[in-house]
Formats: sequence, structure tokens, C-alpha cells
Amino acid sequence: MPVRRNRRPLLQTRYTRPSGDGSQTADASAPAGVHSGALVPKGGEHRPHAGRTWRTFRAPAAHRDTTAVLGGAYPFLAGRPSTARLYVGRDTVTGAPFTYDPWQLYAAQAVSNTNILIVGNIGWGKTNTAMAIALRGIATGHPVTVPGDPKNDWTRLAAALGGQAIRLGPGQGDRLNPLDPGPRPPGSDSDTWRHQVDQRRATLLVAIVETLAPGLAPLHPQAREALTEALQSTCRASSTPTLHQLVNRLEDNPTPAAAPIRASLAQLCTGPLSGLLDQPATTVPDPDAPMIAVGTADLADNDTAHTLAVLVATSQLEQAHATGQQRILVYDEAWRILAAPAHLARVNAELRLSRARGTATILITHALSDADKTADAGTATAATARGLASLCDTRLAFRQAPGELDRTAADLHLTRAECDAVAVLGKGEALWKIGTTGRRIRTGLGTAEAALFNTDTAITASDTAGPTNGTDSRDRTGAADTSAGSSRSK
Ligand SMILES: Nc1ncnc2c1ncn2[C@@H]1O[C@H](COP(=O)(O)OP(=O)(O)OP(=O)(O)O)[C@@H](O)[C@H]1O
Ligand SMILES: [Mg+2]
Repeated sequence: MPVRRNRRPLLQTRYTRPSGDGSQTADASAPAGVHSGALVPKGGEHRPHAGRTWRTFRAPAAHRDTTAVLGGAYPFLAGRPSTARLYVGRDTVTGAPFTYDPWQLYAAQAVSNTNILIVGNIGWGKTNTAMAIALRGIATGHPVTVPGDPKNDWTRLAAALGGQAIRLGPGQGDRLNPLDPGPRPPGSDSDTWRHQVDQRRATLLVAIVETLAPGLAPLHPQAREALTEALQSTCRASSTPTLHQLVNRLEDNPTPAAAPIRASLAQLCTGPLSGLLDQPATTVPDPDAPMIAVGTADLADNDTAHTLAVLVATSQLEQAHATGQQRILVYDEAWRILAAPAHLARVNAELRLSRARGTATILITHALSDADKTADAGTATAATARGLASLCDTRLAFRQAPGELDRTAADLHLTRAECDAVAVLGKGEALWKIGTTGRRIRTGLGTAEAALFNTDTAITASDTAGPTNGTDSRDRTGAADTSAGSSRSK
């Protein structure tokens, strides 16, 4: 295609203000280089770096290349903004509104999966952005599940939204029972459901034993058999089976394989962990709730208790995912979850099954190097942890922790220009890498959202007060505002 020559240089178009009779007159009142009309001139303001033109960007034919290569040479070029998806915020380079919907992007083959990875240093806005996606996702019919919430941020949000807030831990009223079958999904065949419940319980029990006694992992087939046998007889004998009953059954089993399992599970019935999972459930997850969040803040100091609580919650919430409805699944503070091998395997499976299940999993972590803490370098577990990033086609990089930028750039395949941008991002602003395209987006929060998402309760000592910092620079226009040009970018 022949290269088109512009008759005038792009940023030197003269701006004239329409006069009353429809003719154009020069704007004499505007200061040199700045135009004072109500509308931005079509050809962009007459000043350096005004960054606006009505002409479509065209790469000269001699430089034609793949989108990936051009994205590196000309980063942050914005296409026409879409209003068809969920509003997130504004592009801080172009000022254009930015919308996002993982399922729509997948349908358009712009991404190969619906998963989202959010990585960034403490306090730069990861949770607020995930909450904005979640809240706006609920508005478009996508319920949200948060199986473990070590800061109770999401539990507060779920309660405020009229969803289900389950708070686990000493002194909290809620309890989950790993042997609870949960409600049978409407319309499901009773035999199929019973079979699914048996499998879910057995898988969960194996994970619990391996967490309590890592030396037994992977559980020997004879030990698995002893566990399954005891589990089946306990559940046949009682309509409300509990871990106490299961431990008693294992005591009756004389085989050597049964003894270590019984000893490990007994820790949940006596000692410091008793009362957490060994009683009948006080609550069952409600798949119809717009948001279900399991608050684990009161267990956050005890790694084993926290791991067990999230394991049980994830397993019980699984049946909500079986409804086939498109759901958003959030793992905030994922470093807590990834540190336990049992969780790592589960999250890995979930990310791989997201397309089949219709879920979009959001994984939020402080640093990609957190994954290295799960296992010794060179082991299969370490490789699985490091591979999680590659299972998320949407990656959000907030400002990185000191020393983490190179690792993030390598794992997320950032270009040099993208890397430079991440180093200077402001609060609430992230580099959104969707497939191979990178854009700088600042999440816009409305006033009501800012109060709902308040993650500073411990600092401000108030559940309802707005955040104490960052509010001035919020996009107060709210989620519904999609008009271009009014963003306050940093
Ligand atoms: N889009 C935004 N605009 C302005 N301020 C924001 C925005 N997002 C977050 N903030 C503010 O930044 C602070 C930290 O936000 P948030 O809790 O979401 O960060 P985080 O990265 O999840 O932190 P942590 O790593 O501790 O979990 C809060 O005071 C919040 O109000
Ligand atoms: Mg957070």
C-alpha cells in the first residue's frame, strides 16, 4: 500500500472557534500554544505532546510487522474504546475509558483463558481493582466467590452487598464441617450427586491429612483405602457425620495404615485446632448469593489452621461452581494460599479448568517470587507454582516491590517500555497486559465504591469511613461514566 503523505504536520492544525454565523474565526483569546474552546480541536491541541489526532494510526508499509512486534515498537497505542464491557477506569496515556470482560475477550479469541493475575507491592491498589472488577461483574450477572480472605476485606464487602459472609476462627459464630454434603443442586440426579459428594469428601480428607502430616504425603494407597472405608461407614451411619465419628471409626481399624491417619485427624478433635472443623456446620454456602466470602482473618496467624480452613471452604464452595454459571473466583493474598502444596495443586487445577467451568479466577499476590517459597528450586511443585502466571492471560502489574521488577518483566514478558512504565505507576494504576497488548489503566472508583472497598479499616479504626489516602485522585465520575477526556491521570 502506498505511504500516504499528510499535507500538514499532525500537531500543527490551526484551531478556530466557530463564530455565530457558522464561519470559522481564529481563537484570539487563547494563550500561545493552548486553545480555550469548549471542545478539544479535531486535530489536537496546538502544543507539543498533545497526543491527539483524528487520523487513524498507520504504520508505513515498509515497517509492517506482527501485532506483537509493533506493540513493542509503538507501546500504549489505544484502539477505539469499547463500551460493551465492564467499565474499569481510564487509560492514563490516552485518557480513553477502558472496559474489560474476560468471557467476552475469550469469545473474541483475544485471550486463551479467562484467568487474571494481579501482582504488586503492598498498598498500591490490587484489592480495590479486583473489587471493582468483582462488583461490576455482579452487576452483569457473575456471582463472586472468595474461598479465603485473610484480611476480612472481602467478607465486609460481601456482607454490605447482601451476600454471604462466613467468618471462621475462634470466637466467630460460623463453622464449616468437612464431611457436610451441602445442599443437593436442584434438578440433579440423586445417585450422581451422592457419588460427587463421596469423591469431594475423600479428596478433601486426603488433603487435610497431608496438610496435618506432610510426612505422609503423598498418601499411600493402603492409607487411602483405610480412610475411604472409615469415611463411607461414618457417612452411612450418621446423617450429620463429623470428624469425631470418623476418628472413632479409624480406631476400630486394626491395619497399620489406619493408625497414622487417625493420629493426624485426631489433632482436629483435641488440642489447639479443636472446634475449627470437628463440629456440625452452622452454615452452608448459598450458590445463589451474589458474593460468598470466607473470612479467615482470625486464623491468619496460624498457618496450618488457615490452610485447613481455606481447603474446606474451597471444597464446599465447589458445588456452587458446578451450577455452570459464569463466576468470578478470587484468591486475595494468594501467597498465603500458594504456600501450602495442597492449595497449590487445587489452584493449578482450577486455573486449568476455568474455561470448562465458566469461572474467571483472580489471583492476587505481592510478588511473583512468592511462588518460589512453596518448594525447593527444581522440584515439580516449584515448577507448578512458577507456571501459574502462564495460566492467566490477563496480567495486571502494579508498582513492584524493590528488586522484583526484573522477575516480573521476565515472567510477564514485558517490553522495555512497559517495564519503565511499571516503575512509575501511581496508586490504583496498573499495566494491564491482555494477551500481548499492554495499557496503563487507572481504576476509577465511585464515592460509594470507595467506601465499600475500604481496606484501611485497621488504620482508620472505622468500618464505614472512607479511605484516608488516595481519595483525592480517585475518578469520582464512578463506574457509569464513560465519557472521554475527563480522567485525572497521574
Ligand atoms: N483506584 C484507586 N484510586 C485511588 N486510591 C486507591 C485506588 N485503589 C486503591 N487505592 C487506595 O490505596 C490503598 C491501598 O489499596 P488496596 O488495599 O487495594 O491495596 P493492595 O495492593 O491490595 O494492598 P495490600 O498489598 O496491603 O493488600 C487504599 O488506601 C486505597 O483506598
Ligand atoms: Mg490487598
